[in-house]
Amino acid sequence: MTFLVEKTADLFESVLGTRPSGVWSAPGRVNLIGEHTDYNEGFAMPLAINRRTAVAAALRDDRRIRVTSSFDSALVEIEIDDISADTVSGWSAYPLGVVWALRQVAASPESLCGVDLVIDSDVPVGAGLSSSAALECAVAVALNDLWQMGLSTMELARIGQKAENDIVGAPTGLMDQIASMHGRADHAVLIDCQALTATPVALGFAASDLVLLVIDTTVRHSHATGGYKDRRASCERACEALGVPSLRSVTESDLPRAQSILDAETYRRVRHVVTENARVLATGAAIAVDGPRAVGELLNASHVSMRDDYEISIPELDCAVEAAQNAGAVGARMTGGGFGGAAIALVSTHLMDEVTEAVLADFAHRGFARPEIFAVSAADGARRDY
Ligand code: GLA
Repeated sequence: MTFLVEKTADLFESVLGTRPSGVWSAPGRVNLIGEHTDYNEGFAMPLAINRRTAVAAALRDDRRIRVTSSFDSALVEIEIDDISADTVSGWSAYPLGVVWALRQVAASPESLCGVDLVIDSDVPVGAGLSSSAALECAVAVALNDLWQMGLSTMELARIGQKAENDIVGAPTGLMDQIASMHGRADHAVLIDCQALTATPVALGFAASDLVLLVIDTTVRHSHATGGYKDRRASCERACEALGVPSLRSVTESDLPRAQSILDAETYRRVRHVVTENARVLATGAAIAVDGPRAVGELLNASHVSMRDDYEISIPELDCAVEAAQNAGAVGARMTGGGFGGAAIALVSTHLMDEVTEAVLADFAHRGFARPEIFAVSAADGARRDY
């Protein structure tokens, strides 16, 4: 049992007075490449990371859900049938949203019994590492087992997304939940968001003396409001104007036609999505043929595209990426939805301290808050731990 799993089981016992019947956990993720492509039915290549959210759980003999966590000691209680976007709020909307989404697909919703859920996590919240998907997926695997629903990992990923879209109110895609459900140690997951397939891609970072650094700017963001929604809406408008079902149908050779039809800003949004899809596939091919050091230029180009075409970067993310590149990183880019959160830098192991120092120095020089910098490794997806 890992430290987190034990701690979560102990917290369950100290709050509720009995041992849980099990502990389940699911990881956060970083996206190696393929940003804002998921809701455009494109390609993405995230990896699940060695930071997890754990849920200790036990069935009840009534129809109440009770949920609490290490980060908020309030015990939220609600009847299964009363959960809706209007009755839940705050962090508990994520686990309760999963209960709601599972109830929607249950063969006999009236026979589901209540559950006690106690949550702990070492995934930083709001850092762009999908703490929300980790929470949703941990609860989804736990309830899938306890309620014996027999749903597949892809179905559970969709349950997590449904909770986030319909109960939390964030119009996010499916990448984070697929990464959290399908992650594998030392592998990224190549996702085809149209076919809904998840294929493991061996990364071999350690064997190539590489380490993946996360640079959390500590600038927090929310995808329920603002820029994320706007970007999604402009992609939908572009599809209408171009007469395509999704931007997946648009390729680089279609770009001149798109430019002649769309306004300049919408065109830049489309160009990001189309070139990003191509970069994801090129990344997969580069790793397979030449190894992970060959992906540096693709990561760098992805960042430029997000900064200039999709316009979702912020000065702190640009600073992190440039400082890492200048200090000798193989490649660097912002990761996740943008407007805050984290960047990643792929770095030779012997340069790790130098890159870290260089990023800290540039942040201090620019007057930005001190970033959190740490290495992550690719980890296994959601599972029962105990
Ligand atoms: C957030 C969303 C994902 C995806 C990324 C951008 O992480 O949750 O669905 O759209 O942003 O690639």
